[in-house]
Amino acid sequence: MLHALLLLLLFPLCNGILPVQENEAREARQLNDLWTFVREPSNSIGYGLLHEWFRQDISSFSNATVMPVPSAFNDLQDNSLRDHVGWVWYQRTAFIPSRMSRGRTYIRLDSANYYAKVYVNTIEAGSHFGGHLPFEFDITQHIVFGNENRITVAINNTLSLQSLPQGDSKAIGYEDHVYQRGFMDFFPYSGLLRPARLLFLPKTHISSQSIVADATGTLTFSHSVIGTGFSKVEVTVTDADGEVEYTSDALNGTTKISKVELWWPRNMGKAYLYTLTVRLLSDSSSPIDIIRTKFGFRSITWDNSQILWNGRPFHCQGFGMHEEYDIRGRAFDAVMMTRDLNLFEWTGANCYRTSHYPYSEERMAENDRRGIAVIVETAAVAIRHYSEEIQNLHMDFIRGTIERDRNHPSVFMWSLANEPSSSLKEARPYFDPLVKLAKSLDPTRPITVVIAGGPTTDVVAELLDVICFNRYYGWYSNIGQLFRIEDDIYKEITAWNNKFSRPIIISEYGAEAIPGMHRDPPFAFTEEYQVEVLKEHHKAFDRLRNEKKLAGEMVWVFADFMTVQDTTRVVGNHKGVFTRQREPKMAAHLMRQRYTEKKRRRKDEL
Ligand SMILES: *[C@@H]1O[C@H](CO)[C@@H](O)[C@H](O)[C@H]1NC(C)=O
Ligand SMILES: *[C@@H]1O[C@H](CO)[C@@H](O)[C@H](O)[C@H]1NC(C)=O
Ligand SMILES: *[C@@H]1O[C@H](CO)[C@@H](O)[C@H](O)[C@H]1NC(C)=O
Repeated sequence: MLHALLLLLLFPLCNGILPVQENEAREARQLNDLWTFVREPSNSIGYGLLHEWFRQDISSFSNATVMPVPSAFNDLQDNSLRDHVGWVWYQRTAFIPSRMSRGRTYIRLDSANYYAKVYVNTIEAGSHFGGHLPFEFDITQHIVFGNENRITVAINNTLSLQSLPQGDSKAIGYEDHVYQRGFMDFFPYSGLLRPARLLFLPKTHISSQSIVADATGTLTFSHSVIGTGFSKVEVTVTDADGEVEYTSDALNGTTKISKVELWWPRNMGKAYLYTLTVRLLSDSSSPIDIIRTKFGFRSITWDNSQILWNGRPFHCQGFGMHEEYDIRGRAFDAVMMTRDLNLFEWTGANCYRTSHYPYSEERMAENDRRGIAVIVETAAVAIRHYSEEIQNLHMDFIRGTIERDRNHPSVFMWSLANEPSSSLKEARPYFDPLVKLAKSLDPTRPITVVIAGGPTTDVVAELLDVICFNRYYGWYSNIGQLFRIEDDIYKEITAWNNKFSRPIIISEYGAEAIPGMHRDPPFAFTEEYQVEVLKEHHKAFDRLRNEKKLAGEMVWVFADFMTVQDTTRVVGNHKGVFTRQREPKMAAHLMRQRYTEKKRRRKDEL
């Protein structure tokens, strides 16, 4: 562990990352296919590192097999792979044409859970800790151009107590049969979970970008560039029809666009996107680098009870989610993502939280296009021990998350953690600098932490702009007592309001329903019971919304998802309103009815 922390100090995680694009100046090569895969025994001492497996062709090992990328490795073979703790090895070759030597070559991994060391031929290109965020390394010096090059990624998926703010966990086991369980309620899927690519960029290129565009039409942009081989800059803003609205010859600038079309969440208006094009040009005006980014003009503000989108009350109605599916686990899959977002729209929802980690970049772009408002959550779930090491890592995760997602108009709030032990007094000095960091990186969006405790014991809520809390009346408390729910949740939300006078979102509520299990009168774990629990909450929500005491409501959870084996989980968590295969339970129809109904809205809402 010490080893990993030292590495972190030497190589800070965030030195800018841009979305991948292919254009006149940039090429990308997918490395998404079958890689050679070798597993070390669970909890090994890092045998592969000691024996420098990256120097060898590991496909010659008798236990070598293949692994698709992207995919979690856990659900593709047997128990020991599913519950593996420690090191696994991915390897492949890639032919890199000679012409690529004109520019710089990077390897980019969109997500490797949880710790990855990357080798190109026999040289370590870099390492990354934490998962769920992209990272890239300049490998130009390590490549033999016009040749096959060996790429090796060693992944360690250990969630040890001191290592990650992602659910304290422990390895439990007998001799070499070890498995790990975190306090987080989801399966710790591991491997190369999102696309892997080689990027071929010009020697001089844009390396980071910040775009802030508000409802007054004010646009502020800034860029960093690696290399000095350019003499001119051309910045252009075009509208959705390609009409030029603005041009500039500076990398950083601010301007005001007149008669701007705003970006609205899906049931408030159009999700209107502009394009910012940045060109680095040579003396003779030939293009050296180009990036094009879609962005939207909108302002998020808040008062003592509501979130305002472009000055209008925005009532968030949606779901907590998981980005995970059968067999492939927490891997990016365009088919499943599309099904998810289409179903999401079918329910009429307008908002979700990327519980409990940043979601794929492809999904973030879709949120912008579809007008889905999103709370992006850092990978920090169920923190129970507060230490400086975890705090430093947590800060890196916050930097990485904001750097990656800040230019998306759909993102309206940052959630710094889910359900930390926020009644412990150490929580306050732990979170105080995290909130300040997030504010300094992005002063334009509200900050939240999703709280599990109540308003009397919590010590973190005071630091936040918006209070999100999770509560399970009728499930974890007073199961079976449907008649108490409306009163209990009404009283609690009122108590949060009275104490803190700021917008309150109930970010989780709900109950488990085993798909196809029915009973009348409703009984815990049936589809009928889930529906009744939700309905009782809705009675209170409607009253609270009219009294301007509730800024949003999110059911836990969109779809069933996998957890570790536990007496309280029947092959995973079944609080989904959809099954894990994304078919509707009775509750999905209830939510659709609620979220598509206009009559509940107050007059001042759109
Ligand atoms: C797979 O083979 C390598 C090389 O022989 C060995 O070091 C490693 O322990 C094996 N993995 C397992 C899970 O036994
Ligand atoms: C990698 O895994 C082992 C267990 O197999 C663990 O003891 C070690 O701390 C991990 N190392 C890093 C750098 O994460
Ligand atoms: C533009 O802004 C970036 C990011 O704030 C900064 O690093 C860079 O120095 C600025 N460039 C110029 C030319 O002012």
